[in-house]
Amino acid sequence: MKKSTNIYYTCALLLSLVVSVNCKDKKDKEMKEETPKENISKVSITESNYGTTQDGKKVTQFFMKNEGGIEVDIITYGGRITSLRTPDKDGNMQNVVLGFDNLAQYEKDNPYFGALIGRYGNRIAKGKFSMGEEVYTLAQNNGENSLHGGIKGFDKQVWEAKTEVGENSASLILTYLSKDMEEGFPGNLSTTVTYTLNDDNSLDVLYEATTDKATVVNLTQHAYFNLSGDFSRTILDHVVEIDADTFLPVDGGLIPTGELRPVEGTPFDFREPKLVGQDISEDNEQLQLGGGYDHCWVLNGQQEGFRKVASAYHPATGRYLEVSTDEPGIQFYTGNFLDGTLPAPNNSTYAKRSGFCLETQHYPDSPNQEEFPSVVLNPGETYTTKTTFTLMTK
Ligand code: BGC
Repeated sequence: MKKSTNIYYTCALLLSLVVSVNCKDKKDKEMKEETPKENISKVSITESNYGTTQDGKKVTQFFMKNEGGIEVDIITYGGRITSLRTPDKDGNMQNVVLGFDNLAQYEKDNPYFGALIGRYGNRIAKGKFSMGEEVYTLAQNNGENSLHGGIKGFDKQVWEAKTEVGENSASLILTYLSKDMEEGFPGNLSTTVTYTLNDDNSLDVLYEATTDKATVVNLTQHAYFNLSGDFSRTILDHVVEIDADTFLPVDGGLIPTGELRPVEGTPFDFREPKLVGQDISEDNEQLQLGGGYDHCWVLNGQQEGFRKVASAYHPATGRYLEVSTDEPGIQFYTGNFLDGTLPAPNNSTYAKRSGFCLETQHYPDSPNQEEFPSVVLNPGETYTTKTTFTLMTK
């Protein structure tokens, strides 16, 4: 009886040892699985203080980096990309977006360097539009027209930020609540813009918004690229391709006339890759009105949704940028109004055409042009649109 009790205890001890070793294994495994993703992610995100705005708001800078060598700096003031460093074909890292090195300079008047644009990217004629019975009046901050959301648009707001890290990506999630009638727009617009740097050298910009009153929305990103990395050069030596059979001719105030004009046989034909400088000085009424390219192209393949729509290539450095979006239009702006007054690196200034923008968006002045795809957002709907900038060399 005693013997059998001993055997019983020995068996029980052995069993509990086996169980506890198994449990320990399981725990170790779980611990491994629970290791914060930051430590195993191929993309990192860190933050630092970027200063305080004149009205006392703290601004943070986020720094994202992937293993492919892309480094992006974004500040919560205007959700602005302040730097985007990419390797050239020989691996030399350079910043390829125009920017400043301090917050005070971003707060001074500047043409939306690196900024998120809202509520309405591009122009609304005479700063007026109507919805139903209501006529809404916006600031006329560009001649008689309203441009890029008004006097204090999304580019000048300090956004709330949080971060998320996945195995192959890191995201900066920016939110901003634009109050009913802010800059004249109806509805409380709750906006989220998520920048995601991926392991494959793409930077996604995902825009989402909801409203509590019918309103108009057209969000975009206003980075000025110069893929040479040398901002003392113009962008005329870049080769650009835009997948669009038609573009929107404009009037003297850069408001679309409503016509969709075929690019065929015009300087606006970028269906095959073409040097920006090739036709920009042609004697052409539309180029004169824009002071160069400053027009919205009507993108092909709109029914396909998200697709590649444009690219830019800088042969000397081999840097190549691809733009994909689900938007129907893209404003190709060749920095015609940069005039050598804003400070650039190395004690220099940003000269005319030292950067270009490829702003994915709905067409300018859509709230006043019924034929254009609608920009109306109703309560209960979610505005969602995505643009991806992919940086490569070839
Ligand atoms: C517009 C230009 C304008 C620039 C800076 C661009 O999106 O198309 O006309 O000068 O933004 O404001």
